[in-house]
Amino acid sequence: SQPIEGSEVAKSEAAKKVKIGIYFATWWALNVVFNIYNKKVLNAFPYPWLTSTLSLACGSLMMLISWATRIAETPKTDLEFWKTLFPVAVAHTIGHVAATVSMSKVAVSFTHIIKSGEPAFSVLVSRFLLGESFPVPVYLSLIPIIGGCALAAVTELNFNMIAHGFDLVEKSVTREGFMGAMISNLAFVFRNIFSKRGMKGKSVSGMNYYACLSMLSLIILTPFALVVEGPQMWAAGWQTAISQIGPQFIWWVAAQSVFYHLYNQVSYMSLDEISPLTFSIGNTMKRISVIVSSIIIFHTPVQPINALGAAIAVLGTFLYSQYLSQPLVALDHYCTRVEYQM
Ligand code: 3PG
Repeated sequence: SQPIEGSEVAKSEAAKKVKIGIYFATWWALNVVFNIYNKKVLNAFPYPWLTSTLSLACGSLMMLISWATRIAETPKTDLEFWKTLFPVAVAHTIGHVAATVSMSKVAVSFTHIIKSGEPAFSVLVSRFLLGESFPVPVYLSLIPIIGGCALAAVTELNFNMIAHGFDLVEKSVTREGFMGAMISNLAFVFRNIFSKRGMKGKSVSGMNYYACLSMLSLIILTPFALVVEGPQMWAAGWQTAISQIGPQFIWWVAAQSVFYHLYNQVSYMSLDEISPLTFSIGNTMKRISVIVSSIIIFHTPVQPINALGAAIAVLGTFLYSQYLSQPLVALDHYCTRVEYQM
């Protein structure tokens, strides 16, 4: 019966890979739409604390309706669950608002270049704060992944500097954009690691885990958004945006909020199946699709270096995934805890 069992295992492994592939493709596609509407909204209405809050509110509402109408099964949670979720929600709130503030200050590609460093943060946090290390080839594969992603966006960045009156060279704005993206990297790495731990062995699915995370983050973020920006700024900004863009501005806000929830929900469905490091690498590769699609949509001139960068990043990810598919025993010494048991 040994070979049959072996082929069953291989089949279920292959089915799992296809499922994760579908999740990744959906996650990236939804994120592309989110990024386009998010930037359109922020250009016309530069209030990232409110737009971040609206994204969470919209997702929370969508999930409450899904539970009430039984489109999705209501999760069974207890006080312990919400207590453990609290630090994860704090990290999600910080990562979300910091990324949105960054995108409101600088070109989308600038934020994405900095955010492509997320896997490096993931291994650093694992190594120095959790004492977990990875095999050398895993560290090495991060170089082409992060470097390639940066190259893919680098000329779009120059283009944006020219197109938007060199606002990137305006030091304080650049600093805020840079710091926002860096804070977001760090916060999301903690969020991912602790989300993975929170989901492990629990009956709450990735989809519902993210729904609860949204709701708790909304509660945390709302008072801060009121203090940092507040209704007076929002009302004035809203009027200006409507008068400049017209009523379709409301649809842009709705689209960025709905797509924010959907892409995150699908990303959590994949986090349920993969490690936090693989998640961060998937998130970095996602940025290539954002960069490529924004080049197509906004007709940005492309240089061969961008295509080369994207190819290098894809190759790096391929090498990383090859390493992960090595037999378990070979990796056992290094990263069993990290990759296979979390
Ligand atoms: C956010 O608003 O949370 C960010 O735009 C998301 O960053 P991500 O690309 O890492 O999901």
